[in-house]
Amino acid sequence: MMVFGCITLLLAVSLAQVGCGHKILMNAILGEGSHFLCAASIGERLVEQGHNVTFLISNAYAHRASDPKYSQLFDFVVFRHPIPVEKVHEQFEAFNERAFMPASAQMWTLTEVMRDGRADDCDAVLGDVEIMNHFRSANYSAIIYDIGWLCPVIIAKQFNIPYIALSAVSSPCAVTSSSGSDNSPAYVPAIFSGFSNKLNFKERVQNSIVHIFILLFGIYFRMPYDDLKGKYNIASDTSMDQLFARSGLFLINTDFSVEFPCAIPPNVIPVGGLTTRPSNPLPDGLEHFMQSSGQDGVIVCTMGTYFTSVPIQVVNDFFNAFARLPQKVIFQLRIIPSNITLPPNVYTLPWLPQNDLLGHEKTRAFMYQGGNNGFYEALYHAVPIVVVPIHGDQYDTGAKVSAHEIGITIDKLTLTEKKIHDALRDVITNDSYKRNMERLSAMFLDRPMTPSKKAAFWIDHFIKHGGAQYQIPFVNLSFVERNLIDVLVFFIGCFALVSIVLVFMGKFCLRFIRHLLRRISKEKTE
Ligand SMILES: *[C@@H]1O[C@H](CO)[C@@H](O)[C@H](O)[C@H]1NC(C)=O
Ligand SMILES: *[C@@H]1O[C@H](CO)[C@@H](O)[C@H](O)[C@H]1NC(C)=O
Ligand SMILES: *[C@@H]1O[C@H](CO)[C@@H](O)[C@H](O)[C@H]1NC(C)=O
Ligand SMILES: *[C@@H]1O[C@H](CO)[C@@H](O)[C@H](O)[C@H]1NC(C)=O
Ligand SMILES: *[C@@H]1O[C@H](CO)[C@@H](O)[C@H](O)[C@H]1NC(C)=O
Repeated sequence: MMVFGCITLLLAVSLAQVGCGHKILMNAILGEGSHFLCAASIGERLVEQGHNVTFLISNAYAHRASDPKYSQLFDFVVFRHPIPVEKVHEQFEAFNERAFMPASAQMWTLTEVMRDGRADDCDAVLGDVEIMNHFRSANYSAIIYDIGWLCPVIIAKQFNIPYIALSAVSSPCAVTSSSGSDNSPAYVPAIFSGFSNKLNFKERVQNSIVHIFILLFGIYFRMPYDDLKGKYNIASDTSMDQLFARSGLFLINTDFSVEFPCAIPPNVIPVGGLTTRPSNPLPDGLEHFMQSSGQDGVIVCTMGTYFTSVPIQVVNDFFNAFARLPQKVIFQLRIIPSNITLPPNVYTLPWLPQNDLLGHEKTRAFMYQGGNNGFYEALYHAVPIVVVPIHGDQYDTGAKVSAHEIGITIDKLTLTEKKIHDALRDVITNDSYKRNMERLSAMFLDRPMTPSKKAAFWIDHFIKHGGAQYQIPFVNLSFVERNLIDVLVFFIGCFALVSIVLVFMGKFCLRFIRHLLRRISKEKTE
């Protein structure tokens, strides 16, 4: 029966490259944005290899399940938020409204959206008898989850399924420090800090403070999941921190051709550039616009969904800067404010075919907020970058862009029309940015297989052979053992003991010598 099953499956999936396919559950938080695109690119390769991939997504983004691009490839399990979907969309909108505010003003919303809201979702999933029964009967061979939501780890523990972590964020040593990566503040820039890896004394002090803050924030972030494990009585003897650290593999959307180098354990696999691919031809209208730019070429600009509710002054700064440039500009904007007149060289679209635009021969520069996927897409197509980081890991992208001199980073809080204009003019007219980008791009592209194929290969390898061999024992050591505090205490004890013995011996010798001298002098006087 099993044999027939396999044969039918092999016939059904003509692209199958490996024996019998496995059932794999994937999750990318809610199923939206850059995190989903990363996971989906791996999912596509897994399906090509003959596996059966199911995505767990939220009912707020259930449109994924009816998008033919994905519904032909994947099965979907849709969980329901405990709050109405409009409220979920509002939460993310509230975050966008704070785009051009300082990080401290974004912090609270981020915590609310990413910690509390998602923990409530997890409660809803674990409490959903129908979904849990579905997972129980599905017999998945592995769960691949985005590190932004730890719920799938609890599901994996409940049904004893091996699990693999996927990070859409770069910073390989910061996100896997609990599994033994060297995350030393001496040279590893703290995640979200925007530092490079060349730090002076003041920066090392700041970097250490951010490191500690991020560590504490991580613990705070994982706390609700410990409560949930207790509530549903799943793996209650192991902390969420440990469960996370013991993920079978860590697939990180990073590549050391452009990432600041650091030391990672064998089970951390860099798969940077998951969404990179050759560009497709543009639709006729857009192609015509590109060609109309002549020798000067085109600037591709997107500030993501953030630009929907920013102050009108910021929008004006962008447009006024564009108006003074000889290039044409393609700008992503969902709604054009009614009292704004677009400069004649600017063309807006509610959604950009970003990868196809970056691969176009007329594209001269890419201006954007610094997401990790966009960074690798620009690298793939060797387009110089102007970054305006809005939050989180976008500051780290800015640091890489500046350190490698493949573009210019602009601070959003001191943004002016002049700064935007000058940065774009410089990256286009100064050849060195383009040359640096071409050099790094060639380095990035010189590899045995594409990032998504590499990720799929390692998932397959993990399902066949397990991952224990690649895990360093660091994960199972206590704080005291990891930092050799017990050994240090032992050494100090030994040193103290030897010192005491030496002091006593010294005192004894002194007394003996004194005694001897006294005897000699006594004998002399006698
Ligand atoms: C994957 O497995 C599920 C459950 O066994 C099945 O319903 C579905 O048709 C399979 N999908 C593919 C694409 O083979
Ligand atoms: C899953 O595994 C259980 C026990 O190993 C088995 O009884 C069940 O039929 C399997 N389900 C599927 C859909 O293969
Ligand atoms: C455009 O209108 C908005 C309100 O809709 C207002 O706040 C803004 O100042 C106006 N901008 C200009 C340039 O007039
Ligand atoms: C071009 O950019 C490089 C790198 O930022 C810089 O060192 C160089 O001085 C610039 N050249 C000119 C002519 O501005
Ligand atoms: C860590 O402990 C877990 C649970 O006891 C065990 O399964 C795993 O093999 C251990 N890992 C290492 C690297 O020792």
